Amino acid sequence: MHRTTVGTAGGLLITSGLLLGAAAPAAAAPSDVSAKSPDCSKVKCVALTFDDGPGEYTDELLDILEEHNARATFYLLGSKVGSHKAEVRRMAEEGHEVGNHTWKHDDLATLSADEIKDDAERTDEAIAEVTGEKPRTMRPPYGSLDDTAREAVEQPIVLWDVDTLDWQNRDVDKILDITKDETADGSVILLHDIHETSVDAVPGLLDELKGDDFHFVTVSYLFDGDLEAGTAYSDARSG
Ligand code: NI
Repeated sequence: MHRTTVGTAGGLLITSGLLLGAAAPAAAAPSDVSAKSPDCSKVKCVALTFDDGPGEYTDELLDILEEHNARATFYLLGSKVGSHKAEVRRMAEEGHEVGNHTWKHDDLATLSADEIKDDAERTDEAIAEVTGEKPRTMRPPYGSLDDTAREAVEQPIVLWDVDTLDWQNRDVDKILDITKDETADGSVILLHDIHETSVDAVPGLLDELKGDDFHFVTVSYLFDGDLEAGTAYSDARSG
């Protein structure tokens, strides 16, 4: 598999997995932007990711995604799952991916290997208890990783290449501008469904990207299963 390296804000090197020659998912007409299983080797695909929930706006977000026939990935905090079981169950039932974002948003670079493993297991179990399935991918809080964390985390690590800065700007227009400017085929877009403005931005964001022929798929679908444990991925760009 072809890899490129890109830097994170913290100066750590991460690798970006590229999708080359992977088995094609179920065929869909390239022009059908509403297809649930698009062939991402033939059409443009993007993964919307929502971190730090579930929260009070998650159900509304699920309604919006359902209306647009869009799949997304939710990186959940294990500590919030128990009080939002209905939303978490709905995510899984409606074809979204449910990922691990730690129990309570600790910076993994500050934890020991045993602490990371305990946190991951506790979070995986809380999610699996509701969805019936252990998360396939994990996202470290703040995108923060060190070698200890890479070795301790069992799942592939998914970062992002489009940062909407939604937690900071709390501005629908800014979120849309950043997304329009930075999104490319294979992008992973970072949003947080715990902020009302972020959820408010989603209908416009879906319409805008749909107009550019993007298809909305889960992270695991975007990478077509071509993900390895202990490796961090920021996008699924080919070429
Ligand atoms: Ni987070």
